[in-house]
Amino acid sequence: MRIFAIETSCDETAMALVDGTKGKLRLVKNIVASQMKLHEKYGGVVPEVAARMHVETIIPMLEEIAPRDGKGIDAIAVTSGPGLAPALRVGVELARTLAVLWKKPLVAVNHLEGHIYSNWLGPKAKSIAFPALVLIVSGGHTEIILMKKHPSTGSGRGGQYQRIGETRDDAVGEAFDKVAKILGLGYPGGPAVSVAAEKGDEKAFDLPRPMIASDDFDFSYSGLKTAVLYAWSGAKKKRVEDMAASFQAAAVEVLVTKMLKAIGKTKPKTVLIAGGVAANKKLRADLAKAIKKHYPKVKFVIPEMAFTTDNAAMIGAAGYFRAVKKDFVDPLKLEADPNWQLV
Ligand code: KG4
Ligand code: ZN
Repeated sequence: MRIFAIETSCDETAMALVDGTKGKLRLVKNIVASQMKLHEKYGGVVPEVAARMHVETIIPMLEEIAPRDGKGIDAIAVTSGPGLAPALRVGVELARTLAVLWKKPLVAVNHLEGHIYSNWLGPKAKSIAFPALVLIVSGGHTEIILMKKHPSTGSGRGGQYQRIGETRDDAVGEAFDKVAKILGLGYPGGPAVSVAAEKGDEKAFDLPRPMIASDDFDFSYSGLKTAVLYAWSGAKKKRVEDMAASFQAAAVEVLVTKMLKAIGKTKPKTVLIAGGVAANKKLRADLAKAIKKHYPKVKFVIPEMAFTTDNAAMIGAAGYFRAVKKDFVDPLKLEADPNWQLV
């Protein structure tokens, strides 16, 4: 089954062709056009600017990736939420139009479900067993989700995921972006902070680990960002690298500690990470080490770097597992849902 996937929820215009056979995926084509440079000068993503760029990019990209008559494509998958409303609408309108024109079934994919399924695009997909505990860490979300199965026949949306914990304020990716701004490292902040951190001393600044000992699986990152702001503006002798390393250590330590606690409670067979911050090398390494030490029987699967940040291959992957269960939506009725919750 060949899925044509479209992703325009934020600042990447992306399309992909994904083939699936008996639960095994093969990426045929994958195109991502990043608007990063455009948004850099505003220090963040401006929704209307992002939408205009998506409009300019989608038709040439469509020409590049898909045959004009949609031949060979079995279903269309599109991110219909969550995300920036004007940006999402561009992808959703294109998908609806193509579904009608090409007479193909249409799958609506939740962007976070897409991030989760980025794990099925790598060589370790075979070893993923349910239940799987997923740490979703992106620019907009920080959640621990227990995934019990692939979507089941006719189940539509529910039953597959259980939320174990989430952030009560900022997402961890957002904290990386804001700290980058404080340190003058530009946008997007995550990659810049983690590169700077490699040359820093993580003990240079004594930062809090918010909610690390709380009796739940929730997170809070806005206080950490404020602590960075005060510590940075109050310090006389300071190096950007040291603050980057100290912040990254605090942010990652909370994620790893909460995940270990959640593994103890939910007893998953596999642990997955998903979302832009899953590209963070320290998070990947520290979580791998902690799981190996405390839960050696639990498998830890991480997405390939290229599929951590926004792309359409992951939307095609999630779309495939819904398409095989015929979980289709009416192209005349599908609307973007900027606040669509996974559970
Ligand atoms: O998943 P994503 O591409 O978009 C959303 O769905 O939000 O995630 C983007 C977020 C940004 O906040 C970015 O700073 C962060 O992921 N990020 C990182 C790294 N690479 C991207 N954060 C920490 N370390 C990284 N290496
Ligand atoms: Zn994303």
